[in-house]
Amino acid sequence: MEQASILGLGCYLPAKKLTNKDLEKMVETSDDWIMTRTGIRERRIAPKEFAASDLGTKAAEAAIKDAGLKPEDIDLIITATVTGDMAFPSTACIIQNNIGAINSAAFDINAACSGFVFGIVTAKQFVDSGLYKNVLVIGAEKMTNLVDWTDRSTCVLFGDGAGACIVGKSKQGRKVVSYFIGCDGSGSNLLRLPAGGSRIPTTEDTVKDKLHFLKMEGNEVFKLDVKVMADAANKAITKAGLLCSDIDLLIPHQANIRILKAVAKKMGLPEEKIFFNIEKYGNMSSASTAVALAEANKERRIKKGDNVVLVAFGAGLTYGAVVIKW
Ligand code: ACO
Repeated sequence: MEQASILGLGCYLPAKKLTNKDLEKMVETSDDWIMTRTGIRERRIAPKEFAASDLGTKAAEAAIKDAGLKPEDIDLIITATVTGDMAFPSTACIIQNNIGAINSAAFDINAACSGFVFGIVTAKQFVDSGLYKNVLVIGAEKMTNLVDWTDRSTCVLFGDGAGACIVGKSKQGRKVVSYFIGCDGSGSNLLRLPAGGSRIPTTEDTVKDKLHFLKMEGNEVFKLDVKVMADAANKAITKAGLLCSDIDLLIPHQANIRILKAVAKKMGLPEEKIFFNIEKYGNMSSASTAVALAEANKERRIKKGDNVVLVAFGAGLTYGAVVIKW
């Protein structure tokens, strides 16, 4: 039976690189500390005039081309982002206009770093139900606008970028076989952007107090990351009727190399079955898994018939995993 599958992939990374050496001149840190503690060597910085929609538009165009479709063929656009151009309209609506997807509905989802995984799961519901044929899922983030460049504990971690995929019916493989998504709202304080919403509207004081920048309890998040990502991946793998040993490639959210290695260990997977690109891009929130999937495919790390698992964890706390039979 035809079921929701990945019809095309694309990504976009801004050209400008900010290296750890550059950061050494901005805050009290070192290339060695950042590499050892996080696995990040450099990250991309979008141009000043770019918003999340500009990054997402480029990734979307690449995915549509890769799927052999035209913008008019897209029925729905789901954009996962925590750095949308504005609180409203949704960034998906802006991208719809940019790419000329005149027949599509469009909305954003906010599941932070898990957003692209949540987007694929949402798209699958629309495709499997027969409501829509081609759903464009985008993860687009300009994270470098949300970081306090004087706070060394967060500014070294994040980067900008976007990735996208088309979810539609196909007999050619790349089927979304199973998924698991979850949330633990009791951890909502661990990772947040305090001001600018209805709880703490923006004022001169909130800006002075830097409440418009991302805040993270890194240690607490770290501990939860490993457990929750491994659990989410295991649940999706079990639902697919598979064992961890059947997995050919695990594509995790790129938050910290130590977290990824610990997840691999917990799942009993050798490191060569894990896809890493954190060294080049840092944490791009919802764009991380989207870019990693597109790159893993481009670099031929995935072969036809492979069992691929996307897994992510982010603010919320949200977590989720998707199993794709390539
Ligand atoms: N350079 C040098 N020293 C630093 C830096 C830095 N950039 N940052 C912190 N330090 C110092 C600290 O001040 C501390 O010093 P102290 O011992 O004198 O107090 C020391 O290094 C250790 O700090 P820790 O916070 O304990 O370092 P840790 O090993 O936990 O690494 C990190 C911090 C990288 C943030 C880690 O906790 C982490 O990766 N957490 C998870 C992040 C994550 O997964 N986020 C999820 C998704 S993001 C989203 O949803 C938007």
